Amino acid sequence: MSTRPGTPAPATPAPGKLPLPELLEMKARGDKIVMITAYDAPAARLADAAGVELILVGDTAAMVMLGHESTVPVTLDEMIFLTKAVTRAARRPLVIGDMPFGTYEISDEQAVGSAIRMVKEGGADVVKLEGAGRMLSRVRAIADSNIGVMGHIGLTPQSATKLGGFKAQGRSADAALKLYEDALALQDAGCFAVVLEAVPAPVAARVSEALRVPTIGIGAGARCDGQVLVWHDLLGLYAGRTPRFVKRYAEVATVIGDAVAAYAADVRSGAFPEERHTYSIPEDELALFEQALAEVRSI
Ligand code: KIV
Repeated sequence: MSTRPGTPAPATPAPGKLPLPELLEMKARGDKIVMITAYDAPAARLADAAGVELILVGDTAAMVMLGHESTVPVTLDEMIFLTKAVTRAARRPLVIGDMPFGTYEISDEQAVGSAIRMVKEGGADVVKLEGAGRMLSRVRAIADSNIGVMGHIGLTPQSATKLGGFKAQGRSADAALKLYEDALALQDAGCFAVVLEAVPAPVAARVSEALRVPTIGIGAGARCDGQVLVWHDLLGLYAGRTPRFVKRYAEVATVIGDAVAAYAADVRSGAFPEERHTYSIPEDELALFEQALAEVRSI
């Protein structure tokens, strides 16, 4: 069981910001925590207005925003760029900056340096990293630097190749027990919450019961303390394959595609722009302009 409390945010939170300890209280009350990814200011504004508690600037940005095949190629500079846009717009939700692959694996010093950049340059309130084992020391080092850390176990996309692809984890007794122990170890190392991705629901339920800090599930069943979905998956904006745990709440890609096609057709037919989309010039000024033009042309 846990020996360390959830780690506080590094500085005084901005006015109106959800206090980090509120997440523990939500878990204790049995109130579900809502987390969503966002990668730009308009999305962050909408998520804030919808009342979500947590916004993750996920390294899924590599795939859904930057067109890569996996999350691996995105850089810390790119993640900081996106995180800045989100933190400019998100008032109440805590913004979690996802640490991309290669920015924390080498040493505790590297991990703390990357987390500090996320917070100082990106404006993130807290950070997230994937894995347990050797990563526990990274969690401890970041938490000891007064930066809140969210853990992420189960299917960890940064190590998908090692895991044998994008597939569910913890499906044997041994693997489930390992996952359970990893979750407790992450809590003990100082994580304020742990994401469980693609984990059998009964296993995630046991982990959630055992942890004092909240679990946030994605493909981990309804008994996690909160849920997260990727913005593009939830809205039907991502063209690639989506996992079975995704629920689409809209088909925004269809709406956008139809709108762009209608715009293109209007431009080609001359139906756009109409009179009401243009600016007027007083008659006398237009006459003077035409006169001046005629003079210029006759020179
Ligand atoms: O990067 C991301 O979007 C994530 C979520 C899927 C939890 O890590």
